[in-house]
Amino acid sequence: MAEKTLRVSKIKDGTVIDHVTSGHALDVVKLLGITGRAGGVVTVAMNVPSKDFGLKDMVKVEGRELSSKEVDKIALLAPHATINIVRDYTVVEKQRVKLPSVLRGILRCANPACVSNSNEPVQPTFYVKGEEPLRLKCHYCGYIMEKLDVLKQF
Ligand code: CTP
Ligand code: ZN
Repeated sequence: MAEKTLRVSKIKDGTVIDHVTSGHALDVVKLLGITGRAGGVVTVAMNVPSKDFGLKDMVKVEGRELSSKEVDKIALLAPHATINIVRDYTVVEKQRVKLPSVLRGILRCANPACVSNSNEPVQPTFYVKGEEPLRLKCHYCGYIMEKLDVLKQF
């Protein structure tokens, strides 16, 4: 019988962002600032069957580990993502992303009249009211940000 699975190569050192909500792999690539021009293998897989249920996306980046701010950004778009740190071909750390209940300094409020968009020295702050669908409430003006508002900023 013909081989029906395509094996994507393992990476040597870097990060595998797995179980990304399907449709969001390219958003993850973008928010990490990955262009491919830095060298290093980057693999993007979309709509691949997930062991657990349905379809998923995946992003593998060689030679990169992620900051906690980047992990929070991924959590906004893909709340079920798993971050796997790979060293010498082995997964040495596996972490489910987790949105903190309060987000500070990661996003701007989409309400132009919000005090956090004026010249006042206030740090944009949002309360996570829902993950799927995403709902973030601005501490200053009460505006509810949704996934589209977030995507515009990444
Ligand atoms: N991976 C990789 N390169 C490596 C090691 C792992 O690209 N050197 C990838 C695997 O292909 C997989 C992900 O990293 O997509 C996580 O690897 P692993 O924990 O071995 O897989 P699972 O047990 O299937 O992960 P989970 O239980 O989180 O679904
Ligand atoms: Zn606001």
